[in-house]
Amino acid sequence: MAVTKEQVLATLDGVKSPEGTPLSKSGKLSDVVVNDGKVFFSITVDAGAVKAWELVRKHAEDAVRAIPGVQSALVALTAERKPGAAGARPSPSSATTRAAPRGETAVGVPGVEAIIAVASGKGGVGKSTTAVNLALGLAGLGLKTGILDADIYGPSLPKLLAIKERPQTLGGTRLKPISRYGLTVMSIGFLVDEETPMIWRGPMVISALTQMLREVEWGTLDVMVVDMPPGTGDAQLTMAQQVPLKGAVIVSTPQDLALVDARRGIAMFRRVNVPVLGVVENMSYFQCPHCGARSDIFGHGGAQHEAERLGVPFLGAVPLHMRIRETSDSGLPVVATEPDGPHAKAYREVAARVRDQLKSAGRSAPKIVIEA
Ligand SMILES: Nc1ncnc2c1ncn2[C@@H]1O[C@H](COP(=O)(O)OP(=O)(O)O)[C@@H](O)[C@H]1O
Ligand SMILES: [Mg+2]
Repeated sequence: MAVTKEQVLATLDGVKSPEGTPLSKSGKLSDVVVNDGKVFFSITVDAGAVKAWELVRKHAEDAVRAIPGVQSALVALTAERKPGAAGARPSPSSATTRAAPRGETAVGVPGVEAIIAVASGKGGVGKSTTAVNLALGLAGLGLKTGILDADIYGPSLPKLLAIKERPQTLGGTRLKPISRYGLTVMSIGFLVDEETPMIWRGPMVISALTQMLREVEWGTLDVMVVDMPPGTGDAQLTMAQQVPLKGAVIVSTPQDLALVDARRGIAMFRRVNVPVLGVVENMSYFQCPHCGARSDIFGHGGAQHEAERLGVPFLGAVPLHMRIRETSDSGLPVVATEPDGPHAKAYREVAARVRDQLKSAGRSAPKIVIEA
């Protein structure tokens, strides 16, 4: 029998807030989303009361998971400043933007050696496709690699890796990631239905992300690739701040507009002292699938030129090609399924440069000149 919202609320009657009132009557719950056995809601509390509520969040999650028929439960704790409070900003993510400086909050994930972000200034530039193939390229270099889909606005790993199963829970609370093509994979899309329209406010984003980092059995990894949400707003900035990143890879198309966005992306990581490992130029040139002829429809070389100008490494160019789109969208990423082809080679070259940059990133962050 399908789990209902009423069932979830009835269960939350039994979970007590720090003041002793039932959680369901606390007035702090968001709408409860129940979809196909997957439950999601958030608890919004005062920024000062977060500590006391963390245990309540955990109890709520455990209680909901115990309801027969519930496949997964994600309860996010949302810290909110009261409007008008000193220093409050009009932004919806005011609570997160005053996060402590990097280093204080960005606690590492035990067992994970390096976490790198794959980011873009805007969506649709091939960020997720690049993230997946880069991760596969890194795995091909012998690195134990994981990939985390942090793009909560448009999770794409379920599709790009053709993953339909749900992560199992271990010991009631921790989630077991999915394995695919040798990668350890976790996506918010495994927990929340892709079709469910969700309104994510900044703090909810952070909370969900923190859970995916800390409550998933990642095991021992040399590198974790994080597919970031597109854009350079508050939510992205906070993520860059809260995730202990070793570096960031910026994906850009050669068009000028995308480059403006790429510059913003570089500036964002720089603000939180995350070294930019370099820029990947995606859809760099068009290779005719029939004759093999190459056309630079977007004006090839823009990203490379810009990378040089900004003083960040250029990590490589990936052509715009039908096979990349087909393999990507059908869950058969080209590096895994056509490892000897030219596209896999392009991604492997990017991966090798990322690995080399990672080695040097720890020692000296590249100096970047920003005009964005
Ligand atoms: N180099 C490429 N050649 C052809 N199609 C690509 C390439 N890179 C990405 N795509 C396609 O473009 C679309 C958007 O890519 P995606 O990786 O989802 O972008 P983003 O994560 O930036 O939104 C997808 O359909 C994907 O298959
Ligand atoms: Mg994407």
